[in-house]
Amino acid sequence: MTEKRKGGRAEFSSKFGVIAAAAGSAVGLGNIWKFPYITGVYGGAAFLFVYLGFIAAIGLPVMLSELIIGRKSRRNAFGAFKKLAPKSMWRYVGMLGVGAAFMILAFYGVVAGWSVEYVVVSVLNGFKSQTPDQLSSMFSDFIAAPFRPVIYQLIFMFLTGLIVMIGIKDGIEKNVKIMMPLLVVIILVLDIRAITLPGAGEGLKFLFHPDFSKLTGEGILSALGHAFFSLSLGMGTLITYGSYIDNKNNLINTAINVTVADTLIAVLAGVAIFPAVFAFGIEASSGPGLVFITLPNVFQQMPGGYIFSILFFLLLTVAALTSSISILEVVVAYFNEELKMKRRVATVFATVIISLLGIICSLSMGIFDHYTFFDLNFFDLLDWVSANLLLPLGGLFISLFVGWRLGRKKVREEIQKGGSITEMFLSIFMFLVRIIAPIAIAIVFLKGIGLLNI
Ligand code: PHE
Repeated sequence: MTEKRKGGRAEFSSKFGVIAAAAGSAVGLGNIWKFPYITGVYGGAAFLFVYLGFIAAIGLPVMLSELIIGRKSRRNAFGAFKKLAPKSMWRYVGMLGVGAAFMILAFYGVVAGWSVEYVVVSVLNGFKSQTPDQLSSMFSDFIAAPFRPVIYQLIFMFLTGLIVMIGIKDGIEKNVKIMMPLLVVIILVLDIRAITLPGAGEGLKFLFHPDFSKLTGEGILSALGHAFFSLSLGMGTLITYGSYIDNKNNLINTAINVTVADTLIAVLAGVAIFPAVFAFGIEASSGPGLVFITLPNVFQQMPGGYIFSILFFLLLTVAALTSSISILEVVVAYFNEELKMKRRVATVFATVIISLLGIICSLSMGIFDHYTFFDLNFFDLLDWVSANLLLPLGGLFISLFVGWRLGRKKVREEIQKGGSITEMFLSIFMFLVRIIAPIAIAIVFLKGIGLLNI
């Protein structure tokens, strides 16, 4: 994405730049690593359906809300609320987002590091002739090791910091334009391989044939949390990116395009993974290792698997990178505009702190695994608290803010700068952000943390 300076503030230069950046943020490890594994943990299709419901009824309106707040204020996540609602407590919603960014990027960098390692293993042909069990222990030994995963995490964080420091420039837009479609092609090829494996039907049934009796309160909370995580919502990423969008952009189209792309890629990733899970006798609920264990089995069994494996993990790394820069940007824009740090200093500072937190996350898979909080190690704790608590809470306040504080007139005004909206759609949107989203989030949230019994 390119930027131009207008009144000293960066702006994306094209409609495509906006979509590339926002979709780049949304599509990432959340779609390919996390979505399949939590779908597995929470029982398959029923989880998927609830997730899709949340995406449509809550995710999309909250995404539009964030873009509206961002473009209207032209500020970072904290500054945006400060500007639109001066002298109020709303700014702390932005603060919550900045805090969530620290936590998310800490563990995100660790998983992205794993995918860098898997690029290397792929190049060295390390999956060859390994049994499913061997591939599984290869993964668990690797993530528990004290050094290697940390080194890869630091390499990844360095790249993230570098891109953000340069400013969000040409390089990314050009790369993303090629890489994202390529990622989709690769996933489609993997889909075809996966659904032609013997026993694939079981996997597809698991993914698409719901058994709602398997749903738990925690599963529903995770579906909601993941809708926010996957769409990069609830912590100001799209407020920050929205602040770089010019007035000609049609925010509704942007929100719809990004939401659809993100959801499709997650479902395609599920289709690539579950048939293989059943075909190779891997536990669907095996957790964070699911992609890293399942797909190498698939690669071994397909013509050209060597090349596909390299490409896949490379693209996974790139997808992670286009997301991680958007998370870091939330913090850097905040440091830069609110604490008046130079962009360069802000980037180094934020990257170093987040990397240190990340090291603890990585070690919590191995030598620190006896330090647990509510039965979760540090990695799982950051993941759980940020996705299931902070993002939904952030989303709750963001939709209340747009629904009640900004109000219908200003929303209409902002949307109409670059598009149009009928009064009927506006009414639906306002109803969703004023009433439906806040109540739904509140119920799911309270039920998920065990404070509500219905
Ligand atoms: N949406 C990204 C993914 O799915 C992760 C992310 C979360 C990015 C929150 C920004 C903010 O991988």
